[in-house]
Amino acid sequence: MVEAKVFMSRPYHPEAETLLRENFEVEVWDKETSPPRELMLEKLAECQALFAESYDRVDAEMMAAGKSLRVISNRAVGTDNLDIPEATRRGILLGNTPGILQDSCADFTFALILDAGRRITFSDRDVRAGNWTYLTQTPYIGTDIHGKTLGIVGLGGIGQRVARRAGGFDMRVLYYSRTRKPEIEEELGTEWMASLDSLLGEADYVSLHMPLTPETEGLIGRLQLERMKPEAFLINTSRGRTVDLKALYEALSGGTIAGAAIDVSDPEPIPLDDPLLSLPNLVITPHIASASSATFKAMANMAALNIIAALTGQPMPSCINPDALEHRRG
Ligand code: GLV
Repeated sequence: MVEAKVFMSRPYHPEAETLLRENFEVEVWDKETSPPRELMLEKLAECQALFAESYDRVDAEMMAAGKSLRVISNRAVGTDNLDIPEATRRGILLGNTPGILQDSCADFTFALILDAGRRITFSDRDVRAGNWTYLTQTPYIGTDIHGKTLGIVGLGGIGQRVARRAGGFDMRVLYYSRTRKPEIEEELGTEWMASLDSLLGEADYVSLHMPLTPETEGLIGRLQLERMKPEAFLINTSRGRTVDLKALYEALSGGTIAGAAIDVSDPEPIPLDDPLLSLPNLVITPHIASASSATFKAMANMAALNIIAALTGQPMPSCINPDALEHRRG
């Protein structure tokens, strides 16, 4: 047992909590919502490790409060909730959980593609609203998936798995990525597009799979939506801030594109009075692309192992700022 305190920002998987309790003193914020800022500042001042969710923003002031904080471990791949340069400067190691969620996210992306194209949620809403009073298919006619063109933006782990699934649906697959990946093109039969605009102009389904960075923030705005075909769909399981939601509302309500299915928004949760929620051609889910029970547990365990390694001086399973060690005092 090492003398150290871990603060968990909500109840996670019990197995991960047990792993931590076997090694350290652990305190859990026993609610599903992020701890209030004041409480977070207080807890950070006392603990050596924070176990966080990607919804928990940890900014420079919070890091300054963590006088003896040695590691922040995100139960997420994305680390856009963390001030990375500040953590590094303060010698705080940052952990994340890559390599686990890709298949679950790719499955979910396909569920959204199928839902948007074949109008599953739309039809479900209509049946429950009492509108299925006689047999007819006409109000529910959708767009095929097979034989259509999928445009993947960002061909990392998730994008590649989406491409693989698209092969099973007999789709043509285009991709746009900062770096061309000829081996993957060969393996998965994907075609590289030299510009985002050319992908947007050809795809029937555009699916976003890049991380949120200063370059990808607002990547899809009014001009990009206008480049898409009027019969095309936008699918977003990346981060909400990659798409300008006002422009998306205009495009969906004005017929610039046929529909969208988004698992992420900005802000999250989306306010109930957001006009997007009034649109019949939008499907929205609450940031759950990775949320299968097996993936949730595996990510929580990896986040716990990141903390155990960091606090016992072992190499972390995944650390995004190993340079932090050079800045550590004491
Ligand atoms: C989920 O959004 C993640 O970053 O893991």
